Amino acid sequence: MADTEKVCCQPERGLVLRDVTLTAGSTCVLRDASLTVLLSGMTLLSGRNGAGKSTLLRAMLGLVPLQEGEILTHGLPPAQARQHIGYMPQSVTDAALLLPAVSHVRAAVDGLRWGLPLHLRPRREEADRLLALTGASAFAHRPLGLLSGGERQRVGLAQALAGNPDLLLLDEPLAALDHAGQEQTVRLLEDLTDRLGIGIVLTSHETEALSGVVTRVVQLADGGLHVRV
Ligand SMILES: Nc1ncnc2c1ncn2[C@@H]1O[C@H](COP(=O)(O)OP(=O)(O)OP(=O)(O)O)[C@@H](O)[C@H]1O
Ligand SMILES: [Mg+2]
Repeated sequence: MADTEKVCCQPERGLVLRDVTLTAGSTCVLRDASLTVLLSGMTLLSGRNGAGKSTLLRAMLGLVPLQEGEILTHGLPPAQARQHIGYMPQSVTDAALLLPAVSHVRAAVDGLRWGLPLHLRPRREEADRLLALTGASAFAHRPLGLLSGGERQRVGLAQALAGNPDLLLLDEPLAALDHAGQEQTVRLLEDLTDRLGIGIVLTSHETEALSGVVTRVVQLADGGLHVRV
């Protein structure tokens, strides 16, 4: 409840759903659902397999249309909000797996800028900075298709950080990671929230690795959303 009160005063820092009905194929993910929640720090979107977590993240980005209602992220509808959001999908497509990881990050750096494209050198430097930030420099020049699941997660995180987003939507960033990899990633995410002030919304079934780290939990169940702070 405290969270709801705060976000009412700071809609630019939160997520607002008003009477949202959202379906994926024939599955109803949300039915007339409303929610007001801050997105500072780390927000865990939880729910069983198939509850609709990935679909909701995609709806926040305008990649899936709503049947009814509206979603505002930081006060903006999806098409505008996504200019400030970095997204790491749950699974990557098999496109361009022979290209080195660094090329994928350079493409993200270029693709997310408005106006004239960056010159080659600044683009390379920015991609290298993001790969270093996520601990992916060592395998940046290997083809994406030859990287392990955990290594690909780090490259995906570097791509999501392109364009200096103020919010990250990370779909299952801890899947495919061993225990040590999960700890490293959780520390990295904490660093992004604490040092750079980036808000993070993540989905994960790894509740143990995240205990004591997340700021709040949003539970998606039976077509509704519930917040635990
Ligand atoms: N493009 C689609 N066409 C048809 N059904 C879909 C589509 N996308 C998702 N679904 C269905 O919608 C439901 C929600 O899927 P979603 O991927 O959002 O769940 P999730 O909570 O992310 O699950 P998980 O924890 O397994 O990642 C599932 O029943 C899924 O089969
Ligand atoms: Mg999912």
